[in-house]
Amino acid sequence: MKIKTSAPGKLIILGEHAAVYGFPCIVLASDKRIYVEVEEFNGGSDIILAPGVKDIRFVKKTINLFRHKYSVTKKVRIKTYSDFSSTLGLGSSSAATVATIKALCKFYIIPLKKIDVFNLGYKTVLGIQKVGSGADIAASVFEGLIFYAKKGKLIKKLKNNQLPIITAYSGVKADTSELIFYVNKKYKNKKNHVEKIFKKIAELVVAGKKFIEREDFVNAGKIMTENHLLLKDLGVSNSKLDGLVSASLRAGAWGAKLSGAGGGDCMIALVSEPKRNAVNRAIVDGGGQIL
Ligand code: MEV
Repeated sequence: MKIKTSAPGKLIILGEHAAVYGFPCIVLASDKRIYVEVEEFNGGSDIILAPGVKDIRFVKKTINLFRHKYSVTKKVRIKTYSDFSSTLGLGSSSAATVATIKALCKFYIIPLKKIDVFNLGYKTVLGIQKVGSGADIAASVFEGLIFYAKKGKLIKKLKNNQLPIITAYSGVKADTSELIFYVNKKYKNKKNHVEKIFKKIAELVVAGKKFIEREDFVNAGKIMTENHLLLKDLGVSNSKLDGLVSASLRAGAWGAKLSGAGGGDCMIALVSEPKRNAVNRAIVDGGGQIL
């Protein structure tokens, strides 16, 4: 019998990097998903085919941790499929991790609560990346729009999960772990400065949550742009992302920022329906790729 499950990728709306230090962030599960198929395999070791996953270790580590925790031994054949490219920085590793846990739960008939899936998924990510807030795992598990803080001790689903955003790929591939370590080095060398930035980001996240809940997108947009400027100050933006953010704002977006680790990957713009086409065009003219 073949079992199929899936989990979504993510977009960080506000609060990236500060979230790694326990500060709050807002994360949105994307409509693009990773699918996992699992069936029994009567061989000596598992077969894992993960073409859409950037790093197969996430699937392997998930299986090992799951087996260890739940004392199950049956070998499996696992195959992953993806709605989106693993090079975009949209959380494909976390989505693959969560979809694999869900598939194993079904396969071994071990019903897990969402929080248990989150804990196991976060443990997998930390086992491989060593660092991370866990926000992307939370988005993959709980879906929708999430207020996330204290590395998972606070996970709150927001009522509103319909954000009028445009997502675009900057065309530059970034390495999340490298950027997290870059910020960590800066945190150690210039603790006061970086902590001030994190605190300001945290204030924006809390204010942004209120505006998003009230669907006050004019002010939510302003908050996003301010968050981008703080990330720029932190040193994780680049000229391509700054250019796409400026182009979006000139074309009438309510707000825009990089989304995720920075250094490339994706940016988002919050836009009204009448401005959507103009902002799309401005991003494409600036060299971005609308997703
Ligand atoms: C990456 O998508 C977001 C970061 O805040 C890392 C994390 O939250 O684990 C940079």
